[in-house]
Amino acid sequence: MCGIVGYVGKRSAEEVIIDGLSKLEYRGYDSAGIAINQNKETIAFAKKKGRLSILEDYLKEMPILGHVGIGHTRWATHGEPSDINSHPHLNEKETIAVVHNGIIENYMEIKEMLIAEGYTFKSETDTEVIVHLVDKHYNGNLIEAVYAAIKQLRGAYALGVVAVDHPDELVAVRKESPLIVGLGKEEFFVASDVPAILKYTREVYFLENGEVVHIKDNALKVYDENKNLVNKEVKTIDWDIEAASKGGYDYFMLKEIYDQPQAIKETLIRRLDADRMIHLDDIKMTKEQLEDITKVYIVACGTAYNAGLVGKYAIEKLAKIPVEVDIASEFRYSNPFIDEKTLLIVVSQSGETADTLAAMKLAKSKGARVLAITNVVGSSVAREATDVFYTWAGPEIAVASTKAYTAQIVAFYMIALDFALKRETITQDKYSETVDKGKEMIENIVKDIKDTKSAFYLGRGLDYMTAQEAALKLKEISYIYTEAFAAGELKHGTIALIEKGIPVFCVVTQDDLAEKMISNIKEVKARGAFVIAIAKDTNKEISKVADDTIYIPAADDLLMPILSVVPTQLVAYYASLARGNDVDKPRNLAKSVTVE
Ligand code: G6P
Repeated sequence: MCGIVGYVGKRSAEEVIIDGLSKLEYRGYDSAGIAINQNKETIAFAKKKGRLSILEDYLKEMPILGHVGIGHTRWATHGEPSDINSHPHLNEKETIAVVHNGIIENYMEIKEMLIAEGYTFKSETDTEVIVHLVDKHYNGNLIEAVYAAIKQLRGAYALGVVAVDHPDELVAVRKESPLIVGLGKEEFFVASDVPAILKYTREVYFLENGEVVHIKDNALKVYDENKNLVNKEVKTIDWDIEAASKGGYDYFMLKEIYDQPQAIKETLIRRLDADRMIHLDDIKMTKEQLEDITKVYIVACGTAYNAGLVGKYAIEKLAKIPVEVDIASEFRYSNPFIDEKTLLIVVSQSGETADTLAAMKLAKSKGARVLAITNVVGSSVAREATDVFYTWAGPEIAVASTKAYTAQIVAFYMIALDFALKRETITQDKYSETVDKGKEMIENIVKDIKDTKSAFYLGRGLDYMTAQEAALKLKEISYIYTEAFAAGELKHGTIALIEKGIPVFCVVTQDDLAEKMISNIKEVKARGAFVIAIAKDTNKEISKVADDTIYIPAADDLLMPILSVVPTQLVAYYASLARGNDVDKPRNLAKSVTVE
């Protein structure tokens, strides 16, 4: 999704903004732009379709000097990726510039109204209505014009606005879409996410919905939607910029696969005491309140949804409460049964996914208690929830989620079955073994399958949950059409798709289901499939039936999803590399999906 960076200070705004935008690339984008107030007749700007490096190269030839500016990486929603549709958008006189992340739902009616008043539009974007609205309301006071403009907007928006008449000013707004403020020494930053400003400052404000930032006369003030001054609490970011950079790996995804033991350790350790007892201090639910719960929904998107599938299994098996798992974009429209006795568990790495947020708002409005599992402190999901369980996986940059997923599973286990973790924890050694042993073999297997048009993952029970996440990972970064199936369902249709040479990955880590999986492996092999098994190293039978076997260290069945997913992440990684794709930034995808 789009990224915003704004700067007011003494440095080169161009440098700060381009650097900041590069830290937001993980959000996904297809074009980039910058606007700088040079205290001249008009705002200077440049915008280019494609990678940020294209804009950077252009700016090397045609630098834009100045100390106040806004920049943007755009992930197209209204109108194709193009120079014209890129942000910033400017009014006709090019005296006001706006960057926007989000969607303006009523932009069509505003556009028609503005056209009737004589405004002309250059782009197909919803954003352009904002700059014309600011222009319409502008009478020398920038913040007043922004307040008047946003009053007419419906939808989600984080905005950055600059105007030529105000050479040291920047106005920014946060409504639904994320925006933070960075406080430096005599310099201020606004950005969609912390990594963009971490090079310059660790002191930040997390903005609330409806808040408006006004940087002027070397001071920064935050107002609420009724123009009251807000006394914000400064938060200090304690994670390092290093944590958000590649640390020697070729791609963020590989680094994040290796980060997993640490991510799990961090998530666990903060809740375990010396006797390995779990303390979920951040979940305020009392025993009585928990006993009152009659229904649990787990709602999320993408990989977080797949973690929810494992969560359901764990909660039902151990806490004995029935759980339903739903995709956030479907949940709201499926007439869910929600009341005060419902617990909604939302899972979101970024904490900013629009559909997940909408689902929680609906549940809250019906009196449900909402527990959020999220990786981002102070994110919208965290703030909306009654209880928050933070996964301490650290920033996840690659679009394809890896360490957030395993940390989410640990979160579910800790919530649902503290006693299982007390009995058997995953050690760092077991993890490293899983990654290192598997790596070389997986690289070789991938050579054999890289040109396949399609592939399948099969599993039973918990292994089926892993299969679903594995299939998502492979398809999203290698673009190989991959589907996951419950192995027992195979004979009811899917087996018709099995033909000679097709790669079928079979996850076999559940002891009580292993024999049945062997039968399923034989069924697909008899029809020509090339079977790669992912199995516990205690299962010697598998390698006799599969073409290749990736062995992983055996642990308690319930904990196997944390280990078995690792080789599947590596399969996706190496397949993407072998096919020449951009591993960290797959086509058409965004890391943080802040629109519905
Ligand atoms: C996007 C990302 C996925 C992620 C999903 C949910 O599609 O590319 O990796 O799983 O959003 O994101 P969330 O931040 O809510 O976990």
